[in-house]
Amino acid sequence: MIHIPKSEYSRRRKALMAQMVPNSIAILPAAAVAIRNRDVEHVYRQDSDFQYLSGFPEPQAVIVLMPGRLHGEYILFCRERNAEREMWDGLRAGQEGAIRDFGADDAFPITDIDDILPGLIEGRDRVYSAMGSNPEFDRHLMDWINVIRSKAHLGAQPPNEFVALDHLLHDMRLYKSAAEVKVMREAARISAQAHIRAMQVSRVGLHEFSLEAELDYEFRKGGAKMPAYGSIVAAGRNSCILHYQQNDAVLKDGDLVLIDAGCEIDCYASDITRTWPVNGKYSAEQKAIYELVLASQEAAFAEIAPNKHWNQAHEATVRVITTGLVKLGLLQGDVDELIASEAYKAFYMHRAGHWLGMDVHDVGEYKVGGEWRVLEVGMALTVEPGIYISPDNQNVAKKWRGIGVRIEDDVVVTKTGCEILTKGVPKTVAEIEALMAAARAQAA
Ligand code: GLY
Ligand code: MN
Ligand code: MN
Repeated sequence: MIHIPKSEYSRRRKALMAQMVPNSIAILPAAAVAIRNRDVEHVYRQDSDFQYLSGFPEPQAVIVLMPGRLHGEYILFCRERNAEREMWDGLRAGQEGAIRDFGADDAFPITDIDDILPGLIEGRDRVYSAMGSNPEFDRHLMDWINVIRSKAHLGAQPPNEFVALDHLLHDMRLYKSAAEVKVMREAARISAQAHIRAMQVSRVGLHEFSLEAELDYEFRKGGAKMPAYGSIVAAGRNSCILHYQQNDAVLKDGDLVLIDAGCEIDCYASDITRTWPVNGKYSAEQKAIYELVLASQEAAFAEIAPNKHWNQAHEATVRVITTGLVKLGLLQGDVDELIASEAYKAFYMHRAGHWLGMDVHDVGEYKVGGEWRVLEVGMALTVEPGIYISPDNQNVAKKWRGIGVRIEDDVVVTKTGCEILTKGVPKTVAEIEALMAAARAQAA
């Protein structure tokens, strides 16, 4: 299995600590277990920041980073070994495992945190934490601080500065290392295979969930624990619902099906959309819209390179799509004016992409000092233009209504432009029709 190597977690902790002010402490909790219903839990997914710094997969854990601490800078609070619980729920690293397998300098039982952590915080000037994202943890942190304050008359020194960790950590997460790109390539490869499989089995009369099952099959077979987000399998007019997830309609002759799905490998997401005809052949209108979206995506790729700014790719898609919609008679007027008045938003109402990484909509600022961010090597993003013609749009001829097309790929900025991670899925009309025809011929 391709995964992030241990050495990389250690490198990340050191890089973060190098940015922390002297005599400070960073404290991060693991994700809480989420209850699905009664005593059934949701599949556990580690918090992305916690995972980024530790690779530690268990709940009920807290990372403490103390740059310059003589007895060790990385302290992990985690569950103790417990033969009975491990027989029911699975193995735990315990404190020994935290040190041996996860590189902690020191490890303590999570049940002792109230006794130990105030002593670690005491005397540090600044505390870094993810304030606001986990209210229960924020309360605990204040309790620990108050323990120190209550001992001020004995000479205890509570910290005076509380700083959000996000700014430092999320900027680090924005730049993907070679190891991260490798994992993202693998997530992309498996997701591409899943889209191909769904194209191959696509038939009139199946349900959207049948195609979702094909995606899940490839994801799991490839080693992914789960999709990176709820898969969108949207046939016919459902393709015009941007975050459709009902996935229970029947695939009808003449419909397109839009699938937006990607898996997660070692907590790194992929995010792919393809749109194809259920019956294997695009109609003239479907083809016209599809090729317009594809042309806009090509224009966007050309705008992704170091020193180009974040919004250039989006602007390129807007220009190509608006020009094309005028040519097709779906918009009337002057292209520049239609762009200025945002008339295209009736058909293209979202942005051309987002950062991609451990979170599908990954962390990292899009603007710096009020200006669009300039792209740099290692930044990963999606490129996902779309055109959605509402079934209720009375301003366009009936033949266009209900067509929704999105094409989405994942890229990483390189020295000379960008690497498309998701090239493995066919994309042109000819490629998709050929793949579907071959699958049908084989099945017949
Ligand atoms: N799958 C969510 C998105 O494309 O942004
Ligand atoms: Mn996306
Ligand atoms: Mn997507």
